[in-house]
Amino acid sequence: MVKCTGLYGNPARVPADVHILFFVDEERLFKATAGLFDSAGSTLLLGLRERGDFKGRPDETMVVACGDLRCVLVGVGKADQLNPETFRKAAGRGIKEAAKFSAPVAAVYCPSEEVIKKHVKAAFEDVVVALVDGTLLGNYRYEKYIGKKAEPVKGPLRECRFVTADEGYQGRLKSTIDSASIVVEGVILARDLTNAPPSEITPDTLAKEALAMGRKYGLKTVILGKKEIEQHKMAGLLAVNRGSRREPRFIIVEHNETKRRLPLYVLIGKGITFDSGGLSLKPAASMEEMKMDMAGAAAVLGTLMAAARLKIPLRIVGLIPATDNMPGGNALYPGDIIRFANGKTVEVVNTDAEGRLILADALLYAQRYKPEALIDIATLTGACAVALGSHATGLLGTGEGLKSALIAAGVKTAERVWELPLFEEYESQLKSTVADMKNVGGKWAGAITAAAFLKVFAGDIPWAHLDIAGTAILEEATDYAPKGGSGVGVRLLTEFFRTMAS
Ligand code: BES
Ligand code: MN
Ligand code: ZN
Repeated sequence: MVKCTGLYGNPARVPADVHILFFVDEERLFKATAGLFDSAGSTLLLGLRERGDFKGRPDETMVVACGDLRCVLVGVGKADQLNPETFRKAAGRGIKEAAKFSAPVAAVYCPSEEVIKKHVKAAFEDVVVALVDGTLLGNYRYEKYIGKKAEPVKGPLRECRFVTADEGYQGRLKSTIDSASIVVEGVILARDLTNAPPSEITPDTLAKEALAMGRKYGLKTVILGKKEIEQHKMAGLLAVNRGSRREPRFIIVEHNETKRRLPLYVLIGKGITFDSGGLSLKPAASMEEMKMDMAGAAAVLGTLMAAARLKIPLRIVGLIPATDNMPGGNALYPGDIIRFANGKTVEVVNTDAEGRLILADALLYAQRYKPEALIDIATLTGACAVALGSHATGLLGTGEGLKSALIAAGVKTAERVWELPLFEEYESQLKSTVADMKNVGGKWAGAITAAAFLKVFAGDIPWAHLDIAGTAILEEATDYAPKGGSGVGVRLLTEFFRTMAS
């Protein structure tokens, strides 16, 4: 993990191998940033703008030698369009450009007080969090299995110094950087687990990861094996697991387990370690992406790690039903009927709609905690990705206050969530002629009928469902996430819990 520190002083004098600076596309503000350098440096920078080589537009980055400093200039665009997310993206672009140098120590400059107050119109802390997020997440690569590390990286980043030139901000820098980098470590844990190949992250190894994390950060971790899963009559998990040679696991991770008086929340993550579709087999094209069908589980683990290290004063129970979905000889048949612990019978019309089956068990198991709220997070439906693409997570559920709080956390972190309706009319699409319901709702509104299925198992507890099918698995890199697992949900849920605790 990259070490993060905060510094107060003249940015141009901070010792570092590379300096990352943000430029607003406006004469006066551009000049103010250029003015941080000595006269030769500042003349050089102003010349770039005058000639139109680098104006500070959001599509511009430039690498220049400014005196004896190696600088990465990153445009952030017009002053009236700035927000923390602008800086998160800009920091991500900047750090990737900086990797072209052999530069173990990077200095990243916070925008000036004037820019933050007059233009970004956010708290200083929100901008710093964005810079830490963008820098550390933009620097992320999954290269465990790459022998020759990806070009053009020369020297891996070891330390990042966030610098403010405003005296009033200096005391507020360190704690913000520390907590933001803890949350980022949660995101990186989630990305690593999601990107790992499917034979590496199996139900058993995922459980072992949870145990190791629990031991390290003081989370109580309990793993249920197949026998206990049978005793708890987890019909969905057992049914999905039937076609597999690997045993299922049910992972329970608790933050503040002994603090019985704190408000309790349950967080459920879909832990399908590989989704072949089962006998309703998926087509070969992009089936490999289904190693990431445990992104919900990864987000739960990342969030609990952050909650423990930030000492969030809430009880949070993470539940992860884990199995792969395979078409082995003993596999569940399309047409099979299974009976859940609450007595409900389900006709499994399509074995590829497996996520809702294992989440149903977890929702039923969660009832024993009588939590304030239940949140599940899952790569549940292709339909949600069709509806929202990769820029918003689908949100459905019954808890109105809960949903508003999640939407607010999404705005704050730029891990945006967008609500889809759960009108009761959709429930009729799940009618079965041979069981209480079936597991698929036909061609239309697939993200909604999936949630309508889950609703039956959520009981009377305020419940929200986050469908991350489009946001957790990126087909293309963004400014601060490479192609692959994004780790979405960790920043969102950590922010949500911090708000609930305050
Ligand atoms: N894991 C998939 C959903 C998914 C698809 C996530 C693409 C990410 C990218 C899920 O288990 C699934 O297969 N859902 C089916 C449901 C259908 C059979 C009703 C789907 O979306 O096609
Ligand atoms: Mn599936
Ligand atoms: Zn799936």
